Amino acid sequence: MSDTIKKAIFPAAGLGTRFLPATKASPKEMLPIVDKPMIQYGVEEAISCNIKEIVIVTGKHKRTIEDHFDYAFELEEKLKKSGKKKLIEEINRLSRIKIAYIRQGYALGLGHAISCAEPFVNNEPFAVILSDDIIDPKDTLLKDMVHLYRKLKAPILALERVPAADTHRYGVIDGKSEGGGVFRINGLVEKPAPGEAPSNLAIIGRYILTPDIFTILSRSKPGRGGEIQLTDAIAELLRKRPVYGYLFRGRRYDAGDKLGYLKATVDFALKNPELSAAFRSYIVGVSRRLKK
Ligand code: UTP
Repeated sequence: MSDTIKKAIFPAAGLGTRFLPATKASPKEMLPIVDKPMIQYGVEEAISCNIKEIVIVTGKHKRTIEDHFDYAFELEEKLKKSGKKKLIEEINRLSRIKIAYIRQGYALGLGHAISCAEPFVNNEPFAVILSDDIIDPKDTLLKDMVHLYRKLKAPILALERVPAADTHRYGVIDGKSEGGGVFRINGLVEKPAPGEAPSNLAIIGRYILTPDIFTILSRSKPGRGGEIQLTDAIAELLRKRPVYGYLFRGRRYDAGDKLGYLKATVDFALKNPELSAAFRSYIVGVSRRLKK
């Protein structure tokens, strides 16, 4: 099996219930963070890791994702007439990468969404990117995991330390540190009840997986919330082979949640060269108003 990660799966067929009503008929993944839809940040992250083949698992109301990554002839003609060369390059830049789309007919869970992409994976290790977990582009989380895979040749889950009060929102691992941010995982629990989390190390939306996960997913039964859970399949995988975690110490935004989305928007706007000065002075004004 190859030790290079060339493919990434983007599960994007979830119903986005935390963001209703905005997500009733439009994909959560297309909500913009400043001027790019959230899924574009994930796709750019994959490209920065030299991952050139992408599969996006979509569902109902998700066609705009395909249109977004397609070539925009009409728009290009219009922008040409107004001399906006830089914008033309920006809107068509990502249309040159290979993206395959697979539909998940029913939103049966993250594990099921990943199993829909099996025909594309071709017995190779692959990355999984949950695009509503936005990683600051200056952080190299996925790149580090891709490098680590060459050494470990085993599944690797991105981990983050979360406050004990938040563990019920995540898959949480029981593991032993091997140094350098690497943990050997002994067990994992999906959304543990209060007081039952084995640690405060939560699984976040970046994974390197091996194709043996598909055999397990193909016979997985619905778990928590009636969904086919990726965490349950990884727990079974653990009985057959070593699985590792890699601790992320940078900045992540859970942009599938309203508060996380707002935090990402504010931080990214403050870093945006066109907006930063004006937006900063607006934020300073807001903070003054709040102090009154
Ligand atoms: P979430 O747990 O964020 O679920 O899924 P969701 O449906 O998108 O949003 P909420 O929680 O109802 O607000 C994690 C990732 O798995 C994908 C989602 O699109 C998201 O990227 N997913 C989830 C699927 O592709 N299919 C599913 O059946 C479930």
